[in-house]
Amino acid sequence: MDNSTPQPPSQQWNADHYARHADFVPKMSNEVIKLLSPQPGQRILDLGCGDGALTERLMELGADVLAVDSSEEMVAAARARGVNARVVDAHELPFDHEFDAVFSNAALHWMLDPQAVLSGVKRALKPGGRFVAEFGGHGNVAAICTALIASLQFRGISARGRHPWYFPTTEEYAQILQTVGFKVDTIELVPRPTQLPTGMAGWLETFANPFLHGLEEDLRHSIIDNTLVLLSHSLSDGQGNWTADYVRLRVSAHI
Ligand code: BEZ
Repeated sequence: MDNSTPQPPSQQWNADHYARHADFVPKMSNEVIKLLSPQPGQRILDLGCGDGALTERLMELGADVLAVDSSEEMVAAARARGVNARVVDAHELPFDHEFDAVFSNAALHWMLDPQAVLSGVKRALKPGGRFVAEFGGHGNVAAICTALIASLQFRGISARGRHPWYFPTTEEYAQILQTVGFKVDTIELVPRPTQLPTGMAGWLETFANPFLHGLEEDLRHSIIDNTLVLLSHSLSDGQGNWTADYVRLRVSAHI
């Protein structure tokens, strides 16, 4: 018998949906790009590049970037922008001492074995190379997760194995970085309430599928509707404007 915790079903990515409902992701990345401070000619790995919007910005700053993502659809969208992109599982990075820096924005919370990811990141870096990343940290989208879980339970459905994200504390993540062999330069949690261009319904449509995996269409709709009602008290201004309770973990480390 397998007593292990069930793994959440993986997210299906749709590049058009992502561009419509989540275009704020690359737009809100100034701080992490400043932390990376890419220099012309530097060889950089963009880990979890999505549709490549941010990779393009690194290229415009003169960096020589290889972008990787586990989604074929997202890699195709990145290539359509002229980005050098490859389908790669971040838990099995195949690079050996090739990069001046590994960069990642809004991707690492989808990767549930951080030690495997960070071991591959370390191996990918040249001696003295840097790792600079931002992703969901402890407390990220807490209200959204709680409302989804409550709405599932209200319909008698266990949320066990459905929560798809890794949102560590700074202490936990710093510990893993050190175990793998990094020296942490800066690490912080930054609350960043984020206005949603297509509201909470658009956000849930884009990102909440793993919570609803395998459920009938009617049941999915009812769970989403209940989630929206619960969240309207805290994350909507009553005028149709929604804010997501984002908390970023921003980190810089080197080997
Ligand atoms: C985030 O960027 O924090 C995030 C995006 C989608 C789902 C969960 C978290």
